[in-house]
Amino acid sequence: MLEGEQLLARFQELDALLTAHQDLWRPRPFTHRHLPWESDHPALAQWLRGRSLEEADASHNQPQHLAAPAPFPDLAQRSAQLCAVGSLPVIGLTPAAARLAVDVPGRKWQQIEAFAACLDFKHPASHWLDWCAGKGHLGRRLLQPGQHLTCLEYDPALIEAGQQLSARHRLQASHVQQDVMAAEAGLRLNATHTPVALHACGDLHVRLMQLANAAGCGQLAIAPCCYNRIQGERYQALSAAAKACALQLSLEDLALPMSETVTAGARVRRQRDTSMARRLAFDLLQRQLRASDDYLPTPSLSAAWLAKPFADHCRDLAALKHLSTVPEQDWPALEAAGWQRLAHVRNLELLRGLFRRPLELWLVLDRALFLQERGYRVRLGQFCPAPLTPRNLLVLAERD
Ligand SMILES: C[S@@+](CC[C@H](N)C(=O)[O-])C[C@H]1O[C@@H](n2cnc3c(N)ncnc32)[C@H](O)[C@@H]1O
Repeated sequence: MLEGEQLLARFQELDALLTAHQDLWRPRPFTHRHLPWESDHPALAQWLRGRSLEEADASHNQPQHLAAPAPFPDLAQRSAQLCAVGSLPVIGLTPAAARLAVDVPGRKWQQIEAFAACLDFKHPASHWLDWCAGKGHLGRRLLQPGQHLTCLEYDPALIEAGQQLSARHRLQASHVQQDVMAAEAGLRLNATHTPVALHACGDLHVRLMQLANAAGCGQLAIAPCCYNRIQGERYQALSAAAKACALQLSLEDLALPMSETVTAGARVRRQRDTSMARRLAFDLLQRQLRASDDYLPTPSLSAAWLAKPFADHCRDLAALKHLSTVPEQDWPALEAAGWQRLAHVRNLELLRGLFRRPLELWLVLDRALFLQERGYRVRLGQFCPAPLTPRNLLVLAERD
């Protein structure tokens, strides 16, 4: 767990790492045929490019264990050092009412239990405010006799389902429809609330921190996710420390922390790979057609496109992008080149992968420091192991 002065110190160390190695983690292998860093580290580039797609996939979620040429091992070690935050201490939770878990998907329930077990606030909560609550599973789990619960959510179907669940479990909860980004959302908070937000995306949890601070909330808990779901074009630093940094983050950069592959079935994986290999093959074709060695963004395509023969896929996509008529090609060779590029891309991505968690921690520390600068005592740590959810960092904040 990190707290007090450790927060700023760690933030600055991460900032130094990310700033010094921007040339390694910013360019996306998917959009570059050759990455700028490859000429600086030819042995590493050649080693990564020599590996298979299967090897890349096996290393994807834990790139730090890869025995790759320099500077990979040093960077892996530094990244691991700076990303060690440890777990938050847990409290003995009152066991959940017998049937509460029944309505919640297993993994979500385990996340909720783990989140709840970390809420050791000095003052017992009197009124939980479940922020972007969905059906309100977290709030219901936290609610104890004598406490109140308000769930804010903007999707009417989720509110309705949440109301039915609360009624079924005979729990007094108010499920309120509220767009938390709307101007009047601040009226929903007051100083008696203990806001909790489990995986409220990007702007949504940032909005909570701003409104909770303004409303005088004495304590809150946030497990952030989807840092790239923001309205602006670039990341808006929150804390004075991050505002003073040179690091400027684009939406693409902000997507890096979310780029672990989720465990998918073999069929889904194959479909995803085929779609990417085709995109990469088309990218080779479009560079030739346009006589320009630049990436050309293409729209995401429905699954029906994958059922088309490869040549038709390319011709139709070229037409969609208003490119000149496609001359006859060695289609099998182009398709194979797409698969070869996919293996290269996935392996080259492993270097970016070393910066995935440092960037995430930088972003979460920016949130922690924002609250600390506003007088909160902040603790930051993991609330559950990564296999349960990779978005497993929790910020706990309290002030008198
Ligand atoms: C990733 S889900 C998390 C739900 C719940 N906290 C959980 O962990 O299961 C994010 C929730 O935010 C809601 N949401 C998205 N934008 C919102 C907004 N502007 N105002 C209120 N709720 C919003 C979505 O409908 C969704 O239920």
